[in-house]
This record gives sequence, C-alpha cells and structure tokens, in this order.
Amino acid sequence: MILITGATGNLGKATVEFLSKKIPSGNIAVLVRDENKASDLKALGVDVRTGDYHDKDSLVKAFRGVEKLLLISSNDFNDRLGQQKNAVDAAKEAGVKHIFYTGVSMQNFEHSALKQIMGDHFDTEKHILESGLTYTFLRDNLYADVLPMFIGEHVFETGIHFPAGEGKVPFTLRIEMAEAFANVLSSEGHENKIYEISNSESYSFQDVANALSAHSGKTVAYHAVSADEFAKALSGAGVPEAMIGFSLAFATGAKDGDFDIPNNHLEQLLGRKPSSLDEAIREIYQ
Ligand SMILES: NC(=O)c1ccc[n+]([C@@H]2O[C@H](COP(=O)([O-])OP(=O)(O)OC[C@H]3O[C@@H](n4cnc5c(N)ncnc54)[C@H](OP(=O)(O)O)[C@@H]3O)[C@@H](O)[C@H]2O)c1
Repeated sequence: MILITGATGNLGKATVEFLSKKIPSGNIAVLVRDENKASDLKALGVDVRTGDYHDKDSLVKAFRGVEKLLLISSNDFNDRLGQQKNAVDAAKEAGVKHIFYTGVSMQNFEHSALKQIMGDHFDTEKHILESGLTYTFLRDNLYADVLPMFIGEHVFETGIHFPAGEGKVPFTLRIEMAEAFANVLSSEGHENKIYEISNSESYSFQDVANALSAHSGKTVAYHAVSADEFAKALSGAGVPEAMIGFSLAFATGAKDGDFDIPNNHLEQLLGRKPSSLDEAIREIYQ
C-alpha cells in the first residue's frame, strides 16, 4: 500500500491521479483532514483515511499497513516542523518501510533570506535520517504555478514590479512534479536517494516578462524595483505585513540565486524534458 498525504491539496491530488493510472487504486491510500473534501478521491477508488499532522495518534492509525509513504510538506506554518516530525514518528511507529518527503531545492541556505521559511524542510530531512527509515528526498524547486501570486493578477496591464533583480529560477510546473512523484512511487531503486526536482533551465523575471508578452501579444515590461519600493507599494495596497515579508523573502532569495540550481533529475524521472517557461506560462494563463 502506498499512502499520499496532503491529498486534498494541489500536489498530493495530482500525484494520486497520476499514480492511479499506473497501479491499481486499491493499492493507494490517502490522508485527508476533512473527508468532505475527498469525494473526487473516493471516486478514484482509493482508501481515504483521516488524520492531522498535529495529532500523532491519528497518523499512526492512518499509516497502518502502509509500505511507502509520500509525506507532502505542510502548508501550515504553525509548528510546521512539529507537524512533520509527528508524521515521521507515526510512520516509524506504524511500520512504514519507506518515506518520501517533499522538501525544497535551494542553495546558500545558511545565508538565505529564506532561511527561516525553509529551515523546516531541512530539519524534517534530518529527523527522517535520524529515524533510520528508508527515505527518498524529493526536493522541490519553485513552482511556476506561484508566479501569479508574486507578480500580481493585473500583470498584463501593469507589467512586473518585483525586486528579484537579474536572479534566475528554474521554474517548474507542479503537475510535472506530481507526475514524477507517481513514477518514483510506482518503481524501485529510489532508496536513500535525493532528487532535486527542478526544471533543467533557469529563468530570470525578464524571461518571465518576455514569456508573458509572447503569450498575450502585449508588451509586458519587467521593472526590477528595490525591496523598499516593493514593500511600500504592497503596504499602500493594504497587503498584510506578514505577506509582504513572505514575498520579499522569496524575491530576495530569487535575486541572490538561491533557487538557481537547474538539474536533470526531473527530466530523468519524467522520461522527457520538463516544460519550458513559455510552455508553463501557457499552461498557467490558459
Ligand atoms: N515549491 C513551491 O514553489 C511551493 C509552493 C507552495 C507550497 N509548497 C509546499 O508544498 C506543499 C504542497 O503544495 P500544494 O500546492 O499541494 O499545497 P496545498 O494545495 O496548499 O496543499 C497542502 C495540503 O496539506 C494539507 N495539510 C495542511 N495542514 C495539514 C495538517 N495539519 N494535517 C494534515 N494535512 C494538512 C492540506 O489539507 P487541507 O486541504 O485540509 O487544508 C492540503 O491537502 C505545500 O504544503 C507547501 O509546504 C511549495
């Protein structure tokens, strides 16, 4: 039995859908917090189990009989490390053989503006190593899908105003990560391996502007504004302080090249080249 957590979320659900095309649905289980959000998963014929990362006992119960567990990182920053440690400890207690964890693909961690946000991922990996479980780390680079969140919904009218300088990111479609995860979960030979799940090419925000221009037929300019200008503009638009800090940390990380580690692991796991930025922009803005 293979169990996927976060199955009501984007990455988890897409992974379940790809996996159900590769192995019988009866061999797939999912962890959800709320069964009411799982009707489409039930329709796939997978075993829907309930549990919460904050509640270790619920996880031990849900993970019983599971051989491979894909732990999708939590999107809840309230003790995210504690939640994920619960999941690892529960996996061990329930007799899970192999844990797969979706961390982050980045460099310069110690000096990164993203250190505080991303630290949980590396601490969770450390906890997995200490648990003695067989592991596979699926370190995800930045989703191309998060671009609209950072560059705003009126980008075709306003252009991009983002303090990422000339920094580059190998933006990767989340759906292709999910497809690769299904391939990994349904095959062997991934024991104690680390995969950097990222596009094979990196792109600047000028490249993003060019791709948006090509897609829309309108000229979308990129303004590499300063961090101060960006924060003031967001503040003036009523964006909460915490969200401004979050966006600034990602922009600074991108500017400093923290994500700029393109890699061919995803290409290998997919068996083809990941979508280019132009293709990703078409997919996201279709
Ligand atoms: N690489 C990137 O660019 C990037 C961008 C954004 C996020 N991420 C990370 O990647 C993860 C997956 O991405 P995504 O797009 O699939 O995120 P998502 O759509 O927000 O899904 C997150 C999933 O985690 C579940 N979850 C949250 N707290 C939980 C808890 N206490 N117990 C059990 N399940 C819990 C959610 O359940 P509910 O449906 O019940 O809320 C949901 O199924 C995110 O959670 C985040 O850690 C990465």
